[in-house]
Parts: sequence; C-alpha cells; structure tokens
Amino acid sequence: MGEIIAIANQKGGVGKTTTAVNLSASLADLNKRVLLIDFDPQANATTSLGFRRNEVEFDIYHVLIGSKKLSQIIHPTDMNNLFLAPSNIGLVGFEKEFYSKRTSGRELLLKCKVEEIQNQYDFIVIDSPPALGPLTINALSAAHSVIIPIQCEFFALEGLAQLLSTIKALRTTSNPSLFIRGFLPTMYSSQNNLSKQVLADLIQHFDQELFKKSQKGDCVMVPRSVKLAESPSFGKPILLYDKKSNGSLAYQELAQAILGGVS
Ligand SMILES: Nc1ncnc2c1ncn2[C@@H]1O[C@H](COP(=O)(O)OP(=O)(O)OP(=O)(O)O)[C@@H](O)[C@H]1O
Ligand SMILES: [Mg+2]
Repeated sequence: MGEIIAIANQKGGVGKTTTAVNLSASLADLNKRVLLIDFDPQANATTSLGFRRNEVEFDIYHVLIGSKKLSQIIHPTDMNNLFLAPSNIGLVGFEKEFYSKRTSGRELLLKCKVEEIQNQYDFIVIDSPPALGPLTINALSAAHSVIIPIQCEFFALEGLAQLLSTIKALRTTSNPSLFIRGFLPTMYSSQNNLSKQVLADLIQHFDQELFKKSQKGDCVMVPRSVKLAESPSFGKPILLYDKKSNGSLAYQELAQAILGGVS
C-alpha cells in the first residue's frame, strides 16, 4: 500500500508545488511508482508537468463530485513511473459546496477517493493550496504524512504554529495517525544573511523535523535556483530539465531521505 504524502503550508509561494512536482519526479526516478495529485485550483503542478489547463478535460474536481473515478482522470507523464491527477480552476467550487452542505465526513472525501487506487502506487503526493481551508483539510485527512516547505525568508515561521495546531486537531478527529515527515527549508541563499539566519533558527529549534542527508548529519535544504524556477515553464520537472543542477540534487536528496527513512 502506497504512502500518501501531503505538501502543505498555508503561506503562499513557499515552494509547495515545486516540492510536490520535484519530490514526485525524484521518487519516480528511484523506480518508485508515483501519483501526483494536484489539489490546488491554481493547477500549478498540472502546468508544471506540461499539461495545459484547457487541454485537461476531467480533473480532480470531477472525482470529488462523483462524475469520474480517480483512475479515469490519471495521466501518464514524460517520466515512466510518474502519473498526474490534474486540477483546474473549477476546484474552487468544492470549497463553496463544502461549506454549504455541512454533511459529516466531508473532510474525508479525498481520502475515500484515494483509497480506490492506493495499492497501485508506492507514493501518492498531494499538492495543496495556500490556505487552511477545505482542500488542505481534505489533503491532510487523506495523508499518512505531511511535508512542510519553509521559505528561508523573513516571516518564514509566521503561520507555522497555526498549521501545527491544525495538524494536531486533525489527529483527534479525521486522521489520528497523521505524522510530520519533516520541514523542508526552501529557496535558501548563502549570499543572503537573512536566509542563513532562518536556516540557523530552524536547525536550532526544529532539528528533529529536518530531513537529513544519508551520509552526513547535514540537513536537506533546497537552494534558491534559477533552474528550479525555469523548469515549470518548459513543462518539466527539474530532473528532465537540468538533472545535475543544485536544485535538482536537493530534491534527489529529499527522495533518498524519505526512502532511507532518514528524516
Ligand atoms: N528553490 C527555488 N529557487 C528559485 N525559485 C523557486 C524555488 N522554489 C520555488 N521557486 C519559485 O517560487 C515561486 C513559488 O514557488 P511554488 O509555486 O512552488 O510555491 P507554492 O507554495 O506552491 O505557491 P502557492 O502557495 O501559490 O501554491 C515559483 O515561481 C517557483 O518557480
Ligand atoms: Mg502551489
């Protein structure tokens, strides 16, 4: 049975989608069969893998409303072991319906859908939107674990307490076994003192939560990288765009830390 990993942080632009896409690709490159579920109406993970929004006929919203099965909307990608369940702007409709219906179990809808295909993949990675709303709650309720990307910038830890208390609350309700796989420092720049300070703070206060490189005790962190920022515009994960770039190596290290259980 595959492990389901949600990528979450209600702060916008911290590297959730970049992490979801490139972790998925790196796990696929290590011969794991991976499904990436785009669970954000912005559909950035979908476009990052080269799918145009208007070319995707059915998306995850159609699965949530019951008009398609999850297996019917999954697409192969340019990587052998990597598959995509796309999103589209229509997914915003789910938020409205979530609040209007008030039916019990509404936070478990995605989990029910994922259970149908879970045994066909080694990993299912869910990209979530920048909010602690119904979509992120559904993603966290469906997941075994969560990875929290943290941008090495001012206000990096703002909102983290709220996210952690949401995770704690879900453990007492919809997802008792949800665990934090780790925090992932992103967009680290060694030229920038603030960036260095944020990383030092993370190591000081949250060392246990950081992913470790297998050989040494150093933590895995994603550098600020032009190649990482460019690759979505070519519709490719960084592995297919510039495999040897330092951003690509960071996501390969993350995948190895997850497979090695070192986190
Ligand atoms: N390590 C990095 N180096 C340089 N640019 C990066 C890096 N990681 C992400 N970016 C860029 O920063 C922007 C935000 O990244 P991304 O879309 O992954 O964040 P996000 O948390 O998913 O955003 P949102 O909250 O809107 O969904 C994008 O333009 C992305 O290409
Ligand atoms: Mg995103």
